[in-house]
Amino acid sequence: RPILLINGPNLNLLGTREPQIYGSETLADVVGLAKQNAEKLNVKLYDFQSNHEGAIVDRIQQARDEGVKGIIINPGAYTHTSVAIRDALLGVNIPFIELHVSNVHAREPFRHHSYFSDKAVAIIVGFGVKGYGTHSFISSLVALMGIP
Ligand code: DQA
Repeated sequence: RPILLINGPNLNLLGTREPQIYGSETLADVVGLAKQNAEKLNVKLYDFQSNHEGAIVDRIQQARDEGVKGIIINPGAYTHTSVAIRDALLGVNIPFIELHVSNVHAREPFRHHSYFSDKAVAIIVGFGVKGYGTHSFISSLVALMGIP
C-alpha cells in the first residue's frame, strides 16, 4: 500500500532557498524523515521531485499502475497555475493531500488561489518543513486517505 510524495518546482532548493520562508532543512532531510515514519506504519513511500509540469503529470499517471493509494503533493508554484496537474490527479482518481511549507495565505495575493484545494482530502499549510511529517502525522494522513 504505497503512498507517493510529490514535490514540485524549486523544492529541490529547500535548505538554501529563501530560508526565512522555507527553513534550513533540505529536501533529502524531509523526504528521509517522511520515509522513516512511513516505514513504521508499514506504508511504502515513493518520492518524486521535478521542476517540470509534464514530468509531474507523467508521475501521477504512473502512480495508478503502481497501485498508489494516496498522494501527498506540494505543487510549488504550479499550485497557482496548473490545470494539467489538477486534471492528472482527478484523472487517476487517487485521493491527495496538498502541502505547503509556507502559509500561502499570508503571502502575495497570487498565492491565495490554488487549483488543488477544492479537490484535496486535506491541506497542510504553514507548518514549515515539519509539515512533511512526524510519525503521528503520517498516520493521520493515511487514515484521512482511507488507506486500510
Ligand atoms: C510553496 C508555496 C508556493 O506559493 C511557492 O511557489 C512554492 C512553495 C510552499 O511550499 O510554501 O514554491 O508551495
